[in-house]
Amino acid sequence: MSKFPLPSNSLMFAPMEGITDDTYRKVIGALYPEWDSFSCDFLRVPNPNPYPLKHVRKHFGEHFPEELKAKSIYQILTSPGAFLKETVEQVRDLGFHWIDLNLGCPSKTVCKHRGGSYLLSELPELKSILGTIRDHFPGVFTCKIRVGYKDDHNFEDIIRLIQDCGVDAVIIHARTRDELYKGVAKWDYIKQAVKVATIPVVGNGDIWTTKDIERYYDYTGCHSIMLARPALKTPWMARLVKSNEEDSLELRSQEILRYFSAFYQETGAQEIEEASRIRRLKSVSRYIFDDFNEGNQVKSSFLRSKTFEDQMKVVQGLLQEETPGYLIDDKILNLQKSHP
Ligand SMILES: Cc1cc2nc3c(=O)[nH]c(=O)nc-3n(C[C@H](O)[C@H](O)[C@H](O)COP(=O)(O)O)c2cc1C
Repeated sequence: MSKFPLPSNSLMFAPMEGITDDTYRKVIGALYPEWDSFSCDFLRVPNPNPYPLKHVRKHFGEHFPEELKAKSIYQILTSPGAFLKETVEQVRDLGFHWIDLNLGCPSKTVCKHRGGSYLLSELPELKSILGTIRDHFPGVFTCKIRVGYKDDHNFEDIIRLIQDCGVDAVIIHARTRDELYKGVAKWDYIKQAVKVATIPVVGNGDIWTTKDIERYYDYTGCHSIMLARPALKTPWMARLVKSNEEDSLELRSQEILRYFSAFYQETGAQEIEEASRIRRLKSVSRYIFDDFNEGNQVKSSFLRSKTFEDQMKVVQGLLQEETPGYLIDDKILNLQKSHP
């Protein structure tokens, strides 16, 4: 019986290395609590020695609000022979209720060490890894996969293996590893997976708008959806979906202002150095201006800005009407108070 805890039609915020650290997840969790889950990016299971417990705790983030931890997924990435059992036990002992195994990472270094998406081509090794995690982690266990390594020939075998090993749900980025990010992720793979799987299937890959989400559910019949780059483009997407609110450029401008302001405040509360605070905002700006007529120009001005004030001037320029200063949300202020 699958222990997957989310109701159908849930929206999951994807793990993104270099972006979804604890600071970022706190901001999104406070501003947009409509997301059903958040994930940290992957912790590489070590070899030749296990990590100290404090490293495993720190990777997720310390002083993390309990209500957000309850919605959180701890993602790991392993290779055969690494200290998997010990790491899984550490994650369990730190009180995390949900582990996700990264089987989608396409990085050359990771695959050279037979980790991430490489394991999709080594099913006996994968079976042993899945067994170790299942035997030592009583909570929710999911796998985030691609549809294959070099090609999709064993896609259905991968799904069957995963469910036979007691995994609670499969999250599928609908591309092979060799496709990296080429083309558009194919929705047909998710439809195929839903036919084969006896556990919930979560669809992922190129689902950019609320209309896409609606059509995706209709077409694929999947249980839930996970968003990565589209969540960076529209971090308030879960609210749009749940409230049936209309997306518009005006709403987008206001939310961008609110989002960047909140992110800047939180990095300040964490005493991150100024240049790094500015860089963090830039690192999440890649898709957010895409819908504006002059999106590319706005993005380059934003990326060239040297101060937060200059960044905000660029965003203010998107608003047609005067805005009363930066729209700081009460929740963010409270968040700061509880995490000095
Ligand atoms: C910057 C970046 C970092 C990523 N890091 C991770 C990661 O740590 N773990 C993971 O499982 N997937 C990671 N991914 C993959 C995404 O979670 C997702 O599967 C992929 O981007 C396709 O979904 P999308 O079209 O919604 O972006 C990353 C993607 C991006 C763009």
